[in-house]
Amino acid sequence: MKNMEILFWKAIVEVIQIPNNLNEVYNDGTSWLSNPLGDHRVYGTKISIGPDGFSWKFYMNSKTEEGARRVGYSLLSYLKELYSGLDGTVKVKPIESIHLKKEIPYLSELILPNPPYINNQIPLIQKIMNLAESNNSHKIKVYIFWQFDDHKATSVLRDNTKSIFRYDFYYNLRIFIEVRPIFREDVEEDEQIAELLGYLDYLITDIKNLKRNCATLKKADVSRKQILTMENLFNKSISIDTSIYDSDTKSFSKKIKAIDFSIPPNMPLDKAYTVHNENLGIPVTPPKILLGNAYRQGVLTKTKMYLHLHDLIHHIFISGLSGVGKSRFIAFLANQIKNQGAHVGILVINLVKKGEEGLYNPDIILRKRDLEFRVPYFIPDKDIEVICKQVAAYLVSSLGLKNVVLSITKNVLYDDCIKIGFPKQHPEEVFMGVIEWLKMNPYHLKFNTNITRAIENRVISLLSSPFIKNILKLGPVPNWFIEWKKGKNVYIDLSNFTEDGKRIITHAIFQMVRTLLPELRTNELKYVIILDEAHEISEKTKHQSIDDDETVTRHYLEIVFEKVLRAFRSRGVCLVLADHLPNNLFEGVYKLPSIKVIFRSDKDFLQYISNYPEEQDDLANQKNRRALILDGVNARKFAIHTIDYSYQEQINESGSSGEMYCSNCKELLEMSTKFCHKCGTII
Ligand SMILES: Nc1ncnc2c1ncn2[C@@H]1O[C@H](COP(=O)(O)OP(=O)(O)OP(=O)(O)O)[C@@H](O)[C@H]1O
Ligand SMILES: [Mg+2]
Repeated sequence: MKNMEILFWKAIVEVIQIPNNLNEVYNDGTSWLSNPLGDHRVYGTKISIGPDGFSWKFYMNSKTEEGARRVGYSLLSYLKELYSGLDGTVKVKPIESIHLKKEIPYLSELILPNPPYINNQIPLIQKIMNLAESNNSHKIKVYIFWQFDDHKATSVLRDNTKSIFRYDFYYNLRIFIEVRPIFREDVEEDEQIAELLGYLDYLITDIKNLKRNCATLKKADVSRKQILTMENLFNKSISIDTSIYDSDTKSFSKKIKAIDFSIPPNMPLDKAYTVHNENLGIPVTPPKILLGNAYRQGVLTKTKMYLHLHDLIHHIFISGLSGVGKSRFIAFLANQIKNQGAHVGILVINLVKKGEEGLYNPDIILRKRDLEFRVPYFIPDKDIEVICKQVAAYLVSSLGLKNVVLSITKNVLYDDCIKIGFPKQHPEEVFMGVIEWLKMNPYHLKFNTNITRAIENRVISLLSSPFIKNILKLGPVPNWFIEWKKGKNVYIDLSNFTEDGKRIITHAIFQMVRTLLPELRTNELKYVIILDEAHEISEKTKHQSIDDDETVTRHYLEIVFEKVLRAFRSRGVCLVLADHLPNNLFEGVYKLPSIKVIFRSDKDFLQYISNYPEEQDDLANQKNRRALILDGVNARKFAIHTIDYSYQEQINESGSSGEMYCSNCKELLEMSTKFCHKCGTII
């Protein structure tokens, strides 16, 4: 029976993260070698260095599994209290008789001379860290065992009149070093052994007591069993007062320990990034949506952090370099919103990556070739002049035309509306009207030619594409919009349109939303529009062209965008914007949203988020899926780790699950292949 062999249980507390501000803590001399449980139990720790990396584990033994787990968590919590930002894991392991039989090769003991020592504090742990930096070929494990030896109260004369009691803390201490040489082929074995022994000698350098005795290394006289059981380690009296002899006062100072058992700043473990002015706020009331697990003082916790559903109308901006987890996070949010507010319609405008619909589980998918994919460029409203102005503004700015074209375009639209009751069927015809107008009312010749050329070359050719024509033509409110308004999820795939196409369609959607949704006074979230990879439609220009004044037009596009953002809020629409290089975007894109989610981002951008270089550094070094949340609505500031989220079932592009065959050789095609592997026909 396997269970019969269990002799005892070992609690293993592994430190996986240390504070970031260790220089300060280090100066305080905070020691982890202590007796948190207050009894006479033996504690052990093992620091491993070598080719497998670095690890630091604490050990305690218990008769039962439950007892081991309990002391493990107790010790970890104590270490966390000592070092704000420290984090670790607790594991328990049954120890059976076979574990005790194995011998440990090359086990030596570091024998300290009796204190008091003549040097200042002995930086033993620092020495081990230094070794971790220089030695990465051989496996070296340092075991330290200690046991509290009861305190002794001594009376100390403070001055001529008063004496005080001082508690002396003694620890029994033993230090073992286990070595496994790993020999490289390119160097002589003797040479490598000498190198290894040199490393070990380094550990005992500079340790001397008042009697000029030095620390020594000798072959250990303990068995594997003793190391594991931590029993019978302290039968010899080798109790060491770890206090230090202070030559000024000619007494032992209790504040500074003879051996430094603090955490050196160069310990090669993850550092905790604490949020500056962290504020987790008060618990959010429902309906609320989950963001992720909170970090507190740099330590990942199980505390769930939420946003209030209706706070989303203040818009969300998400920044982060490629692969940090933005898209998964947005999709998770969308999913949460759906769960919390079934009436909320979600519209995903997908600008770049193919196949992202798998993240969103949409009710309706619209693609380039779908006849149902319509976004009438002009939707009439009561004040027709205002609508003409807004439509002219988004057309002209998203097509990158000069500002002056704006009033002409507006006039052309308005003329038709007054004369025949509605504007031209296609935006293409509107711009032909603009060219006509320029012929009738010429500006300066050079100017006229430039604008006419820009319209003819770029605008007309874009707008006369059959897909764009079908999408933008006048008509009734499209079905998808009606469904979205009712609370359905709609996914619009713009990934295979040109940049101009993406921009004009997105702005046409914004205009439709603005015109068709009524203004509310309730501050309630009704709809969500998601724009991942926002640079595709809102990027500042990098180049200037001759035929249009880019800077002016882009500035204008920025104004249009900002107006849209403001108009959305009053209509209960949340805009979720995400991008990887936000400093290339219009300022409004990241300044107007009140809720910001900052994953690991570009340093240049982070200066817009924080004034402190240290904080910028921390944000630029975040791990994947960790993000700073700036909730401007409730003045909260904290970091989270995102929740696991995977693709829903893959949705087939053709809408059916049927197999596809090559049109040329009739070979069965692999899923999502771009060409036939048999005859090379491009699909
Ligand atoms: N919440 C999550 N759950 C599970 N895996 C995740 C999660 N977030 C990120 N990942 C992992 O990281 C990868 C990148 O995530 P994601 O596509 O969301 O990054 P991104 O920031 O949108 O990147 P890009 O800017 O390149 O689009 C995913 O493919 C997945 O393997
Ligand atoms: Mg992405």
